Amino acid sequence: MQPDYKKLYEIVCDLYSDTKHFYYGQWDETFYTLRVFETSKMLIKRSRVKIEEDIILTAAIFHDIGKTKLDTEKKIEEMWDKHPNYGAEITRKILREQGYSNGFVEKVVFLVKHHDNRPGKVEMIRSNELKILQDADLLADMGIASFVRPFLYSGKNKRRTIENVNYIKTTRSNDGGISKENLYRLNLKASKRMAVKLIKESDKLNDKIFKMTQSELLE
Ligand SMILES: [Fe+2]
Ligand SMILES: [Fe+2]
Repeated sequence: MQPDYKKLYEIVCDLYSDTKHFYYGQWDETFYTLRVFETSKMLIKRSRVKIEEDIILTAAIFHDIGKTKLDTEKKIEEMWDKHPNYGAEITRKILREQGYSNGFVEKVVFLVKHHDNRPGKVEMIRSNELKILQDADLLADMGIASFVRPFLYSGKNKRRTIENVNYIKTTRSNDGGISKENLYRLNLKASKRMAVKLIKESDKLNDKIFKMTQSELLE
């Protein structure tokens, strides 16, 4: 039986809507969840090994749901590392309530729990499903998404557009994205190829908008 992805996504969006940070702006997880789901589908299509597609796609929907439990009175950065474990608990509860089998639930929970244990951070044996989810999570934040995210920060941080463009120009993909030097964080060759293309795409946009801020009025 194929999981009801649409229904699961709706449940997840409802949970995000109750949070202070994750339903709008730069941390709009309803958007990033959607992108991780679609990027996972792209990687699944390219995969030549046998994989359990429904486990990956369900985990893509739930992978960051632990963020809804982060104590936002404290600094988010300090709480960040807790979100995979929180997410594992929430995922288990919801999938059981929705009537999914124990075997299915635990496989999804495993991916949610380990989605942040990337190469270079944690030594572990990764299943093909985990490799795809981890890579999709990073790729989803690249390309146009990584171009847009700093502008969403900009509004919140009361940074003017021109200041923001200069900020992007000097820092490039530092907002959760991945730079070319950082490709080792990806598991699969196909992901690395995709990443290089996406980085080129955002670099192009960054250059374009930088040119738009050049004016004699600012000289
Ligand atoms: Fe995460
Ligand atoms: Fe994520």
